[in-house]
Amino acid sequence: MSVETDIIDALRTIIDPDLGKDIVSAGFIHDLKVEGKKASFRIVLTTPACPLKAEFEKKARKAVLDLPEVDEVDVTMDAKVQSAKRKIESLPDVKNVIAVASGKGGVGKSTVAANLALALKNKGATVGLLDADVYGPSMQIMFNVSGMPAKGANDKILPLRALGIDLISLGFMLPPNAPVIWRGPMVHGLLKQFLNDVEWGELDYLILDLPPGTGDAQLTLVQEAPITGAVIVTTPQDIALRDAVRGLEMFRKVDVNVIGIVENMSYFACPHCGEKTAIFATGGGSRTAKELGVPFLGEIPLEEAVRQAGDSGQPVVERDPESAAAKAFEKFAEQTAAQVSIIVNSGKDD
Ligand SMILES: Nc1ncnc2c1ncn2[C@@H]1O[C@H](COP(=O)(O)OP(=O)(O)OP(=O)(O)O)[C@@H](O)[C@H]1O
Ligand SMILES: [Mg+2]
Repeated sequence: MSVETDIIDALRTIIDPDLGKDIVSAGFIHDLKVEGKKASFRIVLTTPACPLKAEFEKKARKAVLDLPEVDEVDVTMDAKVQSAKRKIESLPDVKNVIAVASGKGGVGKSTVAANLALALKNKGATVGLLDADVYGPSMQIMFNVSGMPAKGANDKILPLRALGIDLISLGFMLPPNAPVIWRGPMVHGLLKQFLNDVEWGELDYLILDLPPGTGDAQLTLVQEAPITGAVIVTTPQDIALRDAVRGLEMFRKVDVNVIGIVENMSYFACPHCGEKTAIFATGGGSRTAKELGVPFLGEIPLEEAVRQAGDSGQPVVERDPESAAAKAFEKFAEQTAAQVSIIVNSGKDD
């Protein structure tokens, strides 16, 4: 048997629990080379935000170094985001669309959408963010950008770029504080334009920040976009959780996958002593997720830094990456990316 075969067999012992396959069968191993007693290969994951990245690297290194024929190993970690099958023709290069939604207003959708986009970008993904909340756009504030987007080739609208994210928001185009009054068909048309007439280019993830609620407007938006899956944002209060359930039912009704539930403003972490206080009780989000049979994507603490950062034009993941909230957003982004890979791999996005 060749050394290469031994290495492949050793790597077969490492299982990706999300895909339920070993990392060789999952197609993660590339460019295996052996020179003398030195082996090198790349592990190409389905997302750069894979929560198990460090673990895979460590296990692969150990499994190969345990072989008597090898005494040096060079592992390169890489990722290639897979493309969902559910697409619209005008966006052939947008691999996945993630909607951020909630049944209730003010629970932190826009904050979650902005920090999700940044956390995924920081892991190495290419990310766009579409502010689909045409009634109350907020990305112009969260990213501190404004101005009429330019037109590029074929008269396509070019997104504005801030903090490494491609952005489109109605807020860029309106004077501040202008009331936004739209009738249903106009909203429909506007969102269609944001999807079809914008030069999004190649994106691993396009994040949609949806308006609150589960009414007709949201239904239209959801049906207009080829959504790979939806993240439902809730807070721990009962009422918000009931709204989360309603949101989830809406997505199921129109056959959109639910990526999972994230609980925002989960607890207050005292900035002085670090003690956690569950202001709105605790555990509701994870309990609801369990009851509904959807993944629980994480808990984001209530932290003044989150609000300050959002108002300052630099979301907390960018402005205060060491804060508890930024760390929580990062973990949540990893869970979200992992669930998107699971949806795409299982063919559930068809
Ligand atoms: N974890 C948090 N800690 C502290 N403040 C937060 C947190 N999450 C959100 N906020 C603040 O709460 C307010 C509402 O958040 P955000 O605008 O993201 O909610 P939303 O669900 O998008 O609201 P809407 O339904 O109006 O679109 C903002 O001022 C935001 O900075
Ligand atoms: Mg919002």
